[in-house]
Amino acid sequence: MERLRHDGVVVVGAGLAGLSAALSAAPARVLVLTDAPLSHGCSSAWAQGGVAAALGADDAPALHAADTVTAGAGLVVADVARLLAEDGPAAVRHLAALGAPFDRTPDGSFAQSLEAAHSRARVARVKGDQAGRAIMEAVVVAVLAARHIEVRTGAHLTGLLQGADGRVRGVVARIKGRSVEITARSVILATGGIGGLYAVTTTPAELQGEGLGLAAMAGAVIADPEFVQFHPTAIDIGRDPAPLATEALRGEGATLVNGDGERFMAAYHVDAEMAPRDVVARAIHAEREAGRGAFLDARAAVGAHFPDEFPAVFAACLGGGIDPRTQLIPVAPACHYHMGGIATDSDGRTSLPGLYAAGECASTGVHGANRLASNSLLEAAVFGARAGRAAAAAEAPVTGATEPVMAADLAPGDLQTLRQAMSRDAGVIRDAAGLQRLLDLIDQLEIAGGRSAPLVAARLVAACAMNRRESRGGHYRTDFPEHATAERTFVTLDQVTHPNLKFAAE
Ligand code: SIN
Repeated sequence: MERLRHDGVVVVGAGLAGLSAALSAAPARVLVLTDAPLSHGCSSAWAQGGVAAALGADDAPALHAADTVTAGAGLVVADVARLLAEDGPAAVRHLAALGAPFDRTPDGSFAQSLEAAHSRARVARVKGDQAGRAIMEAVVVAVLAARHIEVRTGAHLTGLLQGADGRVRGVVARIKGRSVEITARSVILATGGIGGLYAVTTTPAELQGEGLGLAAMAGAVIADPEFVQFHPTAIDIGRDPAPLATEALRGEGATLVNGDGERFMAAYHVDAEMAPRDVVARAIHAEREAGRGAFLDARAAVGAHFPDEFPAVFAACLGGGIDPRTQLIPVAPACHYHMGGIATDSDGRTSLPGLYAAGECASTGVHGANRLASNSLLEAAVFGARAGRAAAAAEAPVTGATEPVMAADLAPGDLQTLRQAMSRDAGVIRDAAGLQRLLDLIDQLEIAGGRSAPLVAARLVAACAMNRRESRGGHYRTDFPEHATAERTFVTLDQVTHPNLKFAAE
């Protein structure tokens, strides 16, 4: 085992949260570890909608915060939502100053799209659906020019180094095939979500909850893991991951129809196509389960403007043999975002000293049970930067012995089995029987192949979904369809693995 000492901050993950953390940690030295080349392998670069921020004359951060709280179905931490919304306009201007080419109106203001559950058009976008890619390009240029940052690609997180006092003092990574222990002043996990644990996902498939799983194995408190958001309109053309048809298309007037050509959303919600994302996802799931199918009809709303206004969606459709200017787009719900994660305060501090988390692998409580559309890039920028500043200011640990907390590898065949089971049993619709079947499978896979981070992440989702005997936001139980008391979940891995705790199956 090779050993390195880094006398600054180690950031694991190079999406918008990780790179925002790295930039704001200056002048502390930062080592960024990422499996994929920069701008690849992260959901940030795939985001189509844009960045939600109260930039318009008819808007205010208080309205944005209120929409965030309403979308989160009773579980949003209001102070964190206020902080996010208040920082929103400055965060967009900062990204624009780094070079992100946001769309502008003729008078030079930010052009903004309307997305579901926003009371105003407030999503700052780039060339229609190019926001994530363009923002990441600008941020990557800044990172490569920053003298305090070193980036190592081809580095896969396999463990955390922990002192006897519980403090996280570094990481273990497989870097170009070699195992390396890296000690550091502090560690920021920005490893993204868990889309790769689901058979149908809109995120890069390599995002399998590595940071979440390892933090839990080290004893960190995990918040709200049962809350997974399913995007209603992944393009159903048999691709893995599934390309996204951005919600902004519905904001432009595209409608949802079934195979009989009937617009069905009005039967499910008064806001029809602009209903909250979880409602639309369940409606599409129901139409498909009933054998009617579900399609996005953007022919009248976008039509000939597709190539200019939604180039990513247009290219994905053409790749699947569909011309969205003249044809319906087949759609299906897909795992899109994890609201739960490593519990943090608004400066990214976890329950373990020395360990910080930001972006999708973290849970500040800002998203509650259901994230408001286009709040995730904003969250990554705002809370990534805050975590970077806090981790850089952390006191240097007293040197001492460390023990590695290591995750096993999950065999490719077992991963595919898990993905199918997660989609079937911890997907859009859940019940006790399915969740128990999933927990039994996770037990079997863990006994056979060891404790891997993806299995730990999947266990957290399944056990806490079992324990939440109600329906709320992204979590829908057919056996408990009503709301119960609005309470966030805070758990440790010990609690979800111990059979006698309240997490046992009913
Ligand atoms: C979309 O463009 O529909 C996705 C935006 C988001 O998930 O925030």
